[in-house]
Amino acid sequence: MANILYLISAICFIMALRGLSSAQSSKSGNMYGIVGMGGAFLAAILTAKFSWYPLVAIIIGGCVGILVAKKVSMTQLPEMVAGFHSLVGLSAVMIDCAAYFSPDSFHIVAMNGQIFTSSLIEIGLGLVIGAVTFTGSIVAFLKLKGSIKECFISIVTNKLIALAIFVSFVMFVLTSNGVYLCSLIVLSLILGITLIVPIGGADMPVVVSMLNSYSGWAASGIGFTLHNDLLIITGALVGSSGAILSYIMCKGMNRSLKEVMFSSGIRAIKGAFEERHNRPYTRGMPEDAAFLLKNANSVIIVPGYGMATSQAQHALKEMGDMLKKRGISVKYAIHPVAGRMPGHMNVLLAEANVPYDDVFELDEINSSFAACDVAYVVGANDVTNPAAKSDPDSSIYGMPVLDVEKAKTVLFLKRSMGAGYAGIDNDLFYAQNTMMLLGDAKKTTENIIKSL
Ligand code: TAP
Repeated sequence: MANILYLISAICFIMALRGLSSAQSSKSGNMYGIVGMGGAFLAAILTAKFSWYPLVAIIIGGCVGILVAKKVSMTQLPEMVAGFHSLVGLSAVMIDCAAYFSPDSFHIVAMNGQIFTSSLIEIGLGLVIGAVTFTGSIVAFLKLKGSIKECFISIVTNKLIALAIFVSFVMFVLTSNGVYLCSLIVLSLILGITLIVPIGGADMPVVVSMLNSYSGWAASGIGFTLHNDLLIITGALVGSSGAILSYIMCKGMNRSLKEVMFSSGIRAIKGAFEERHNRPYTRGMPEDAAFLLKNANSVIIVPGYGMATSQAQHALKEMGDMLKKRGISVKYAIHPVAGRMPGHMNVLLAEANVPYDDVFELDEINSSFAACDVAYVVGANDVTNPAAKSDPDSSIYGMPVLDVEKAKTVLFLKRSMGAGYAGIDNDLFYAQNTMMLLGDAKKTTENIIKSL
């Protein structure tokens, strides 16, 4: 019975991933995920022969989940996801330790009383992936929260730690000695920190999707240790989809995974020490922006992280509808890494009922900026920064950006002349065709609506 439930759950999870791959089918995808998880709970209760342990764990976990979901705002979602990844890593470490210290309960003891070599390999790998995921995700959480910045750690240090992990792993499998188990855990915990700390701000999307992938492989490892087919399948699904997402992110940012992992820290640090100039810029008021907008033929709205923090999406939709009523073409341009998580902007625009047909990806819309009258940039910064095209020393060099500077007029909505996530200045703020609308994006857009 439990095995049939696990099979149904596994199919539901595959359908969930399929559903979540497009905005239109995402609701049904979510439903499949819920049904799959429900089936998994039921199977866990059945296999535990109706013992009350899994039920208590499900109730406690469910309550924590409800509390977190109610408390976390849309802008904190990326940190929350990183936080959850760390928990998967931690459970992998704990379960592998449990398997090592109580091998009988996991049925991994040979006739001679020793743990099977294959199980030692499984435990060792699970510990390394789990520990790296645990500390790596905590560092990612703190970086996304803005509590810590990147700092330089030489590649040689990471290579030495990786070598020490490899030696400990081999010794652990050969001797099954607890000392090597401890060194494996400690070294992997350190590697999780030293691997993620130096990665530059603009490259964090790749890190988040990579940790997503690691957490999947860690879950798959737990599945092998616990002989649980559903965990193996689900972990593999998360692991491979995270790996595909990392690849897509790297492609979107025109970087190789190697570059992200080993040289972005150096570039980011160069950027952080860049000299800031007090350069002249044009500041406008909402009334000026309203005048420009109502006299335009075409407007492209470029949302970024600031739209999420100010929750300006509903006001934007209202403004877009007003402009459309005047016969003005209104489109939305989305950069693959705008915001702080994949699909961040799509989710917010969908929440405000912006029609999917008005939303365009970078490749589809970049050539349209040259023919557009107003580029309305709402709390986006790095994804428009021309330094990505012109400054080889910049931390974002090589990343494709939206060509907003080609529009006749660029309206920038942000609170200050400060930098975005990558910590670098944006030459566009000082361009002749740019008007800075300083203030909260939602309030500014609402004031523009009043003027319109
Ligand atoms: P950013 O470059 O971070 O710029 C956001 C801008 O929004 C800031 O310059 C900020 O300027 C402004 N802002 C903040 N709150 C605002 C408010 N209430 N009203 C108006 N403006 C506000 O964002 P982006 O252009 O979306 O680029 C995303 C960056 O994050 C990239 O560097 C990307 O690599 C990185 N990142 C992305 C992800 C994913 S998966 N998408 C994950 C991690 C990191 P003020 O402070 O002056 O207002």
